[in-house]
Amino acid sequence: MSLPSKVRIVEVGPRDGLQNENKPVTTATKVELIHRLGKIGIKSIEATAFVSPKWVPQMADAADVFAAIEKLPDVSYPVLTPNMKGFEAALAAGAREVAVFGAASESFSQKNINCSIAESLERFRPIVEAAKAADVKVRGYVSCVLGCPYEGEVTPLAVADVAQALIEMGCYEISLGDTIGAGTPGRTRDMIAAVARRVPLKKIAGHFHDTYGMAAANVYASLQMGIGIFDSSVAGLGGCPYAAGASGNVATEDVVWLLYGLGIDTGIDLDALVDTGVWISKKLKREPASRVARAILARRAMASGANA
Ligand code: HMG
Ligand code: MG
Repeated sequence: MSLPSKVRIVEVGPRDGLQNENKPVTTATKVELIHRLGKIGIKSIEATAFVSPKWVPQMADAADVFAAIEKLPDVSYPVLTPNMKGFEAALAAGAREVAVFGAASESFSQKNINCSIAESLERFRPIVEAAKAADVKVRGYVSCVLGCPYEGEVTPLAVADVAQALIEMGCYEISLGDTIGAGTPGRTRDMIAAVARRVPLKKIAGHFHDTYGMAAANVYASLQMGIGIFDSSVAGLGGCPYAAGASGNVATEDVVWLLYGLGIDTGIDLDALVDTGVWISKKLKREPASRVARAILARRAMASGANA
């Protein structure tokens, strides 16, 4: 299959990237991160999560973050909503796109949202109905698509079942989350093939964490399967609070670089993206995890040394 000519990046750094930080990140920093990402050409920025602050304290300022964002007209700012309480709060804050998040593994579903897969689907149904009535888009996530931190292997069929349920419920797109970054390209292909029998390819997104360093390879395998939507996180920020040891998402810099090399335009300014990654990493007192960012920074340092 030929590669897609265009790819949409869903930047999840402000949510997936920051949710696991154990030191509080200020609301102002979160908002500035979102502003910076919007200015460099990213059209979907997952802004925050309207979840229980007891479960994820870092997202306790969801309403404040959302209210403070100066929304750009051509940018979507989805937010996570696990239940009607979260959806109502998101709607009151002015969200125009929300995301429900289920899992292909029973144990992860219990640990992450405190209910079974079947219960989660019943919980999401009224959200999707209310969202439809309010003209709000709903994205659906499936976690643990290539492995579960509690159960180990997850079958492609289990992933396809949940993805199908979410699309039939009315989600406009399904993001397939390799929560623990355990996937390899061959297994990614098998999993996508199973989902694509139930969900149109155009409605499938890849969401790869980079724990084993395979995320970019899994993005490439997905591209070869015809997937044209990828979630990623600036500077490779992130980790899931309910998947110990899981590292950040594939870095947005790495995905943009990969796509650039394939002649696929994302409309994202890579140099400005690297600068944003450096900025947020400094705030978090660490180096950007993105290998591409590090290489570009080293190249810049060499060039400025040569010019000195
Ligand atoms: P629960 O304890 O069963 O909920 O948690 P509850 O309905 O019994 O309520 C308990 C308390 O939470 C109550 O407060 C509620 O009001 C409050 P209390 O009366 O004790 O003071 N509460 C809320 N507060 C704010 N917003 C809400 C909300 N709901 C209840 N929406 C619940 C169930 C779903 C709420 C909880 O488990 C939760 O918030 N889980 C979220 C976990 C999470 O955010 N995980 C990370 C995101 S998923 C992820 O990272 C994976 C992904 O990236 C894809 C991938 O990589 O695979 C998407
Ligand atoms: Mg994730």
